[in-house]
Amino acid sequence: MKSRRARPADLPALASLIAHYAEAGLLLPRSEGELRARLADFLVLEDTAGLAGCVALELYGPHLAEIRSLAVRPGAQGRGLGRRLLRYALNVARRRRIAQVFAVTESPEFFLRHGFMPAAREAFPEKLQRDCQGCPKRRNCRLHAVVLTLYPLPKRSDPLTVLAPTTAALAAR
Ligand SMILES: CC(C)(COP(=O)(O)OP(=O)(O)OC[C@H]1O[C@@H](n2cnc3c(N)ncnc32)[C@H](O)[C@@H]1OP(=O)(O)O)[C@@H](O)C(=O)NCCC(=O)NCCS
Repeated sequence: MKSRRARPADLPALASLIAHYAEAGLLLPRSEGELRARLADFLVLEDTAGLAGCVALELYGPHLAEIRSLAVRPGAQGRGLGRRLLRYALNVARRRRIAQVFAVTESPEFFLRHGFMPAAREAFPEKLQRDCQGCPKRRNCRLHAVVLTLYPLPKRSDPLTVLAPTTAALAAR
């Protein structure tokens, strides 16, 4: 099993894996055009059968990133690959000195097992604006936000105030 950054040749397999779970309502759908444009965000696992799993680390500025599109191929689940992908993405985030990593997911338990804390979705206004506004399911959304702090948060005087509501939301719990 090899872990590596995604390459253009992975696009068809990535699109098909994400579409599989999007149809089941477990992941947000992503078009091939969007995947091509954001390919640099993707880390993958590869085995002799091809793409075994993927995860994207999407930046929202220098201090905040989202774990997105975490998926393990049906048939390869339950063997630690999801955990391995998450650790890989968190290592990349640590190397980039990203203070906080969040996810919006139907499977919060998976992330809570790996040190994430529950958070309010409203703590991530850019995410709501980017992905939720046009979503037909936004009124009955079943997704939960979770967050992991990797480094001390920047001071409140930092121009990127996106982290302030996160801190407030966590403190309120
Ligand atoms: C969620 C997913 C990525 C987990 O990958 P996986 O390879 O099956 O998981 P692992 O074998 O690494 O399991 C790691 C741990 O998480 C637990 N776990 C796995 N899937 C879980 C889920 N959906 N909910 C809660 N816990 C889960 C496992 O029981 C295991 O626990 P343990 O460490 O106590 O043994 C995979 O099931 C998947 O692709 N799901 C469909 C897409 C999806 O829901 N993505 C997550 C949303 S971002």
